[in-house]
Amino acid sequence: MQNYLFFFLTLRKKHYLCPLNMLDKIQQPISEELKSYTSLFRSALQADNPLLAAALAHLTRRLGKMMRPTLLLLCAREGGAVRPEAMHAAAGLEMLHTASLVHDDVVDESDMRRGQRSVNALFDNKAAVLVGDFITSKALTEVSLTHSLEAVERMAWLGQTLADGEMMQLSNTQSTVFNEKAYYEVIAKKTAALFSTCAFLGARLGGLSPTKVEHLERFGHLVGLCFQIRDDIFDFDEDIDAGKPKGNDMHEGKITLPVIHALNTTINARYHHLALRVRAMEASKLEVQELVDFTVASGGLEYAESEMQRLHDEALTMLDGLDNDDIAASLKLYLDYAVRRNV
Ligand code: IPE
Ligand code: IPE
Ligand code: MG
Ligand code: MG
Repeated sequence: MQNYLFFFLTLRKKHYLCPLNMLDKIQQPISEELKSYTSLFRSALQADNPLLAAALAHLTRRLGKMMRPTLLLLCAREGGAVRPEAMHAAAGLEMLHTASLVHDDVVDESDMRRGQRSVNALFDNKAAVLVGDFITSKALTEVSLTHSLEAVERMAWLGQTLADGEMMQLSNTQSTVFNEKAYYEVIAKKTAALFSTCAFLGARLGGLSPTKVEHLERFGHLVGLCFQIRDDIFDFDEDIDAGKPKGNDMHEGKITLPVIHALNTTINARYHHLALRVRAMEASKLEVQELVDFTVASGGLEYAESEMQRLHDEALTMLDGLDNDDIAASLKLYLDYAVRRNV
């Protein structure tokens, strides 16, 4: 009996924070729009070239959580019926996200994505770079269909910002200091910029007031920061199945918030030295494990949780002026999901 109870509690622990229907609930006010969005997304990502067609078919088989189009469409819906322009913007931004993941898996040498093989693993790096380029260009086509110069400008800025963030992360592996400011700068660019752009364009294309646009853009930024901090915590958690490899960050020389905090609160030259070796990708598996254990023992994960809570609390205040109660409730749940999700 006790064994059954234990089994039940373990199962609950895994799914407790994010019941599977939490995303369904978030997406409920835009469920019809998301259906049209999905067919638009899939039909736009086609090609004649057999290799390209095979890679696109593989990629569009699993669409992921659709966090970014969901945010854009919810913000647009605050302004009333969602117009086709917002649909095109949502498809374009999710395409840019998809392309960035395809390239990210090359950069991170990662072989799994969304519970299936990454494009670089199934084909090779050369194909993955070209597929990513193709999808980026398709993304521009979609955004141009908004006929909004502002949307195109934002998209161009976003592409540069994402690349800048990934480059900063790459050059940080050469740095000898570990500071939160540099960490936040990277995640603001590589992740939060995409969320804030979705919220901004959704709000603009939905015709919202300048104050609402500004607040929702800030909301997107804060949600995006939480989303990446949660993702970085996942990397430490063997119990979580996010459909991509665990423990990849440190093996790729990525020192994330929990580690940075642990290093900055414990003055111990040994761990500082170890972290430098990890960053330079010179550390053995055992040394990486030692830094993981040190991070956990120093409360690095709890600190990252508390940082998310701080960002969450500010984000919540950005929803105060919304008029549509269903949208406000969905966005609140969206924020909770970014912080507490387990996929
Ligand atoms: C993965 O994003 C990249 C990060 C910013 C951590 P998602 O977790 O939203 O990926 P999908 O689209 O649902 O697969
Ligand atoms: C986010 O960083 C990736 C992008 C913004 C493209 P990660 O490298 O942590 O993302 P995952 O963990 O591979 O999804
Ligand atoms: Mg990665
Ligand atoms: Mg990650």
